[in-house]
Amino acid sequence: MVDILPLSSYPSYINLLPSIQTCNITNLPENYFLKYYLYHALTWPQLSFVAVMRPKNGYRHNKKLSGAGVGGEEYPKVVGYVLAKMEEEPVDGVPHGHITSLSVMRTHRRLGIAERLMRMSQRAMAESHRAHYVSLHVRVSNTAALRLYRDTLGFEVEKVESKYYADGEDAYAMRMDLKNMWVDWSEPDDDGQKESKKEGGEKKSGDGGDDDNQDEGDEVGSLGKKEDGKEKEKMVRVKVGRGLGVGDLVERNESVKSS
Ligand code: ACO
Repeated sequence: MVDILPLSSYPSYINLLPSIQTCNITNLPENYFLKYYLYHALTWPQLSFVAVMRPKNGYRHNKKLSGAGVGGEEYPKVVGYVLAKMEEEPVDGVPHGHITSLSVMRTHRRLGIAERLMRMSQRAMAESHRAHYVSLHVRVSNTAALRLYRDTLGFEVEKVESKYYADGEDAYAMRMDLKNMWVDWSEPDDDGQKESKKEGGEKKSGDGGDDDNQDEGDEVGSLGKKEDGKEKEKMVRVKVGRGLGVGDLVERNESVKSS
């Protein structure tokens, strides 16, 4: 049985990074230093996913797993991964996600693992980061990946990038719109209603309308109430991710450009 988990959900995902790196080296010529995987995991913890073989006795009861990495004990076997990020300095100024790398071990191909890894990462990009679209590069000769991206997932070829790879092969630059996956981020107003839900006129009784919100008893506390004379604390949305010179982390002798 194979489980697909966000990299950040594993009790100690740092322990899994070498196995993810092995999966990458086994399947692709574009390789990265271990710290580049760590950088992804720490900076965009929601966006990368890993496919692991479920341990026979489950995760919780497996003593070996709780001490994984100590004394040569076993990790769950990684059979696939998607390493993804938000583009830190988008040339077009539009916030968007990027698939850095995707691979599935030969033993586990054509089971839908890559499709699931991709869909979960795309959803996280849209929901957690409000990514407008997701981009990636793929070798023009990579028929399997091309079919996955274009035919199964719905990516479109944006352009061909000549001699993108270190060995001189061209790349398709592909992208897919994610705006249809956005969730409602509007802030609740004083009544706890979302602005967008308020539109559309009167509220009906039984649908959370005013009649349903009538206070039935005495005051139970002041938490959440507006204090006289004081301004209500405002929610502030903060930007996630910073430009930390990721380019320096890519193993340059393997690929011309980082993807
Ligand atoms: N030939 C033709 N179509 C394929 C193939 C193939 N060998 N493999 C997958 N597809 C297409 C099919 O449409 C398939 O749907 P179907 O099985 O219903 O016909 C669909 O993709 C989904 O297939 P999955 O089972 O989800 O794909 P899988 O888990 O086998 O992984 C992958 C596909 C990642 C391309 C795998 O073959 C692999 O790891 N290849 C080597 C590494 C690689 O090329 N990675 C992508 C590089 S680009 C980048 O990293 C941004």
